[in-house]
Amino acid sequence: MDSQIRVRVPAKVNLALLVGGTRQDGYHELGTIFLAVSIFDEITAELAEPGRFEVQVSGLDAETLPRDDRNLAVRAGRLLAERHHIASGVRLGIEKQIPVAGGMAGGSADAAGALLACARLFGLELNAAELGGLARELGADVPFALLGGAAAGLGRGDQLTPVPVAGRLHWVFATSRAGLSTPRVFARFDELCVPGATDLPGPLLSALAAGDLAGVATGLVNDLAEPALDLRPELGEVLSAGRRAGALGALISGSGPTCAFLVAGAEEGAQVAAALSQLTQVRRVCSAWGPVPGAQLVPDGGAATR
Ligand code: C5P
Repeated sequence: MDSQIRVRVPAKVNLALLVGGTRQDGYHELGTIFLAVSIFDEITAELAEPGRFEVQVSGLDAETLPRDDRNLAVRAGRLLAERHHIASGVRLGIEKQIPVAGGMAGGSADAAGALLACARLFGLELNAAELGGLARELGADVPFALLGGAAAGLGRGDQLTPVPVAGRLHWVFATSRAGLSTPRVFARFDELCVPGATDLPGPLLSALAAGDLAGVATGLVNDLAEPALDLRPELGEVLSAGRRAGALGALISGSGPTCAFLVAGAEEGAQVAAALSQLTQVRRVCSAWGPVPGAQLVPDGGAATR
């Protein structure tokens, strides 16, 4: 067994997020298209004494994350150990780059990374279906963080089918000064909106497959935008500023409050990023592209394979 395992895991943006009615399990029926983008958290895992599951967090907003079982990565390690009757505990490390509570599935990414890292640490040979099953138990976005690339998600958003994307999509992300709670945004959706159909949008899927950037920009859709903007009206100004600065498309990422801007390339992205950096509502601006692979082991001393 290796003494320390390292895994790199990406953030996501939803290119389409269609929200339907509430299911019996309390979740909402979703039709979504995920894209994994090149903002990564890095998870490390080492064996610890039996029963001991702990985590150290460094990087962006590290101090805001819980270190106990409320941390989804800790829950992931514990779940895997319990299911496979592993006596050892685990010491996890998380180096954060993905915004916390930002609508980019940072917590889910850390859970996916911890699952993969702990499976290797324990010497378990789990196939994608076995890991995916555990991921689903941890949260609706965790399976996609394992899979990566681009995928359609149905059900709770966790029944995944890979989606072809021609070329790279370039993005600028503007994070917010305060996070937004996903349950709170879904609850506001229930108060404000009539749930609609969750059929995946054909024109957007075709535009992705054809590498038709204008078509992708037109097809971007997020049913959680209305409740997120109701809770945080200032995000509307951020979206408008990005559009004015040349973004092809602008949307709230997932349940927000991060705003995502589709741009034609790195140069246009720099222009949009410069404009967004001026806004008092914006905490941090970063550029990224997708699709990128899901959670991946990082070889000793190296970078994850692409
Ligand atoms: O699955 P996860 O814990 O990431 O979801 C966070 C919260 O988002 C859920 O507790 C629920 O309130 C809401 N949610 C939902 N329907 C979904 C996915 C998430 O209502 N399909």
